[in-house]
Amino acid sequence: MRSLRTGLSLAALLTGAVLLVTAPAAHAADTPLRDLAAAKGKVVGTAVTGSKLTGSYGDIAGAQFGSLTPGNAMKWGTVEPTQGSFDWTEADQIVAFAQAHDQQVRGHTLVWHNQNPSWLTNGTWTSAQLSSLLQNHISTEVGRYKGEIAAWDVVNEPFNEDGTYRPTLWYNGLGANYIAQALTWAHAADPAAKLYINDYNVEGVNAKSTALYNLVKSLKTAGVPIDGVGLQAHLILGQVPAGLQQNIQRFADLGVDVAITELDVRMALPADSAELAQQKADFKSVVAACAAVTRCVNITVWGFTDSDSWVPGTFPGYGAATPYDENYAPKPAYYGIAEALGGTRSTAGCAATYGVTSQWNTGFTGQVTIACTGTALSSWNTSWTYGAGQQITQAWNAICTQSGAAVTCTNASYNGTVPDGGSVTFGFNASWSGSNPLPAVTLG
Ligand code: XIL
Repeated sequence: MRSLRTGLSLAALLTGAVLLVTAPAAHAADTPLRDLAAAKGKVVGTAVTGSKLTGSYGDIAGAQFGSLTPGNAMKWGTVEPTQGSFDWTEADQIVAFAQAHDQQVRGHTLVWHNQNPSWLTNGTWTSAQLSSLLQNHISTEVGRYKGEIAAWDVVNEPFNEDGTYRPTLWYNGLGANYIAQALTWAHAADPAAKLYINDYNVEGVNAKSTALYNLVKSLKTAGVPIDGVGLQAHLILGQVPAGLQQNIQRFADLGVDVAITELDVRMALPADSAELAQQKADFKSVVAACAAVTRCVNITVWGFTDSDSWVPGTFPGYGAATPYDENYAPKPAYYGIAEALGGTRSTAGCAATYGVTSQWNTGFTGQVTIACTGTALSSWNTSWTYGAGQQITQAWNAICTQSGAAVTCTNASYNGTVPDGGSVTFGFNASWSGSNPLPAVTLG
C-alpha cells in the first residue's frame, strides 16, 4: 500500500495529473420505500395528481409508495362543482391505479373550509339545510368508495393556532358538534374505513395540538368513531418540532392511530447542497419519530417530486420541498426517508480503477484494480480503448490482448476471485507518444 501510494504520487508529480479513473460500479437497486416501510409495519405514501400517473411519475408512484392520497381529486369542489352533478373522474383514476399497484388510498378530505364549490360557499343555508348538505356529501362520497379507502381525513383543519375552533362555514352554521356528526356519518357509510381528523402546525406540543388532543379525548369518551389523527407536517427547513415524537406518542396513548399525512420541507430557492443535506436530516427525523411509535402507521409526502408540489404556488420564493427533484431524481431527502426506515443506500458493486504508476519518455507502467463491496466476483473481464495510440507490450496478473485501440484484460487462472470487501490488481507496460490520456475502464 505504501509503495503503491508512493508510485502514484510520483507519477502525479511527473505528469502533473492525478492518474486515476474509476469505472462506475454496478449498483444494485435500492429497496423501494414501500418495502422498507412494510418491514417496519408502516406505510409510506404520497399525494398524487391523477392525470400524471403515467411515465416516470406513474412508475415511481407505483414502485415506491404503499399508499396514495388524492391531492385534490376528492375535495368537495372537485367532485361536485355544480350542485347535484358529480365528477369522480380523477378520484376513480387514482383509486384504480392504487388497486392495480396494491396500494392503500387515503381519502382526502370530506369537511374543510377550503376548495368547496362556490354554490356551497355562496349559498344561504339554515342549520338544518347545512347539516343535510354535509350528511349527503359524506354519505355519497364515502359510500361511493366503500371498502376501497383505508382511511379518510374526515375533518380537515378545524382549529385556529391558539386552539380555538376555526370559524368556518361548518362551525358557524352547526357549532363544534359538526365534527362528531361528520365522523358518525362517515362511519355509517363505510364502517371499515379509519376515520381521521387532520390539521397543520399540530406536529409539536403546542396550544393547537393540545386542543386537538382534548377534542380526540372527548370524542373517544363520547363513543364517537374516531380512529386517527393526521399531522400534516408542512415544515420549513431546519424546523422539525423538537416534541414531534412525544406528541405522536400522546395521541397514540389516547388509543388512536397517528399518520404524518402531508409531509414536505420547504426552503428558499434556489436550494444549495447544504440545504438539501439539512432537508435530508429533517425528513429523516420526521420519519424516525413516526417509526418509533407503534401506532404511527403512515407517513405520506405531499407530492413526491418538486414538479408536483403545492409549495412554489403557495409560498412564493420557496420550493424544493419533496424527496425527488423536478426530473424525478431522488434527492438526499429520499435517502433520509430510506435511512429512517432502516434502509441503506446500496453501494454493492464492483469497480475497476485504472492508474498510471510510472511514466518515461516512450513508455509507462499502468495498473488496474478491481474492488468489490457487498458482492463478489469469480471471474472478471476489463476493457478500454486507448485514444492516443498507446500500445500494451507486456502484462502480469492478467491476460491482455489489444486489437487496434481496443484492449481487453481478463483474469489469470489464479486471480479470478474478487471477494466482498477485497480487490485484485494487475499491471502492464505500454508505449506512448505525444500524450497518454486516461481511458475509461469497463468491468464486464
Ligand atoms: C393543496 C393542494 O396540494 C394544491 O394543489 C391546492 O391548490 C391547494 O391544496 N393542506 C391540505 C391539502 O390539507 O389539501 C392542501 O393541498 C395543502 C394544505
